[in-house]
Amino acid sequence: MSSIPIKSQADIEGMRLAGRLGSEVLDYITPFVKAGVTTGELDRLCHEYMVNVQGTIPAPLNYCPPGYTPYPKAICTSVNDVICHGIPGDKVLKSGDSVNLDITVIKDGYHGDNSRMFLIGEPSIQARRLSEVTYECMWLGIAKVKPGARLGDIGFAIQQHAEKHGYTVVREFCGHGIGKGFHEEPQILHYGRPGTGDVMEPGMIFTIEPMINAGRREIREMNDGWTIKTKDRSLSAQWEHTVLVTETGYEVLTLSAGSPPPPAFILAAQTATA
Ligand code: MF3
Ligand code: CO
Ligand code: CO
Repeated sequence: MSSIPIKSQADIEGMRLAGRLGSEVLDYITPFVKAGVTTGELDRLCHEYMVNVQGTIPAPLNYCPPGYTPYPKAICTSVNDVICHGIPGDKVLKSGDSVNLDITVIKDGYHGDNSRMFLIGEPSIQARRLSEVTYECMWLGIAKVKPGARLGDIGFAIQQHAEKHGYTVVREFCGHGIGKGFHEEPQILHYGRPGTGDVMEPGMIFTIEPMINAGRREIREMNDGWTIKTKDRSLSAQWEHTVLVTETGYEVLTLSAGSPPPPAFILAAQTATA
């Protein structure tokens, strides 16, 4: 018996708006993500945009899951070997850095959760490749979303692609159901076996947010209570979308004018079925 919420039509409308607004924060901040800026300044700009321009609430601020201290900022900024939950501060971005900005807004009680990678100045070929492959991993997972498919199909697709490139999948953090709650059922593992796990049904909404390491998959936790890094100090990348299961497949809710285009294999599949 699965306890995965099925969203009402009103919930879905609310999640469409929250999702687009979450993506528009990333559009807004993009021109500021350059060498010389601090992660704290990016947080300040996003926070102001959410509250003053969008009328949204930054979900991370004071977010306090069991066993955690309240998260102190509006966004997460995860640089280089930081896997996730990097806390914005005095860190100055420099050419060659890669940074994930993870934005979750609340609008009318609904959460829109998404993240993108940004490559600063002249990134290494390895940093570029890791970000690209991680983006493909996210979309390969998204492409598995349809009624009747199983959650393990998503994780399997992601893990296969990452490992094919010699990369590893972080196990300790996963995608999640989302709606009026930030983190709801189910957990979306980014590794697994096809044909296993809960069956997807129309009206489910969850995130797909693979964290992929260039080196080993093990993590270490920093003393700030939030920041997660790779144990071996290798680079890590992450991309995230919030996705609705529709009658025929999926709808990505966290899209906006500035969203990077899906990979060619997704566009080809869309043309084939249009
Ligand atoms: N946005 C993250 C996610 O994708 C969660 C961040 S929790 C925070 O699930 F408190 F660090 F913001
Ligand atoms: Co998420
Ligand atoms: Co997120």
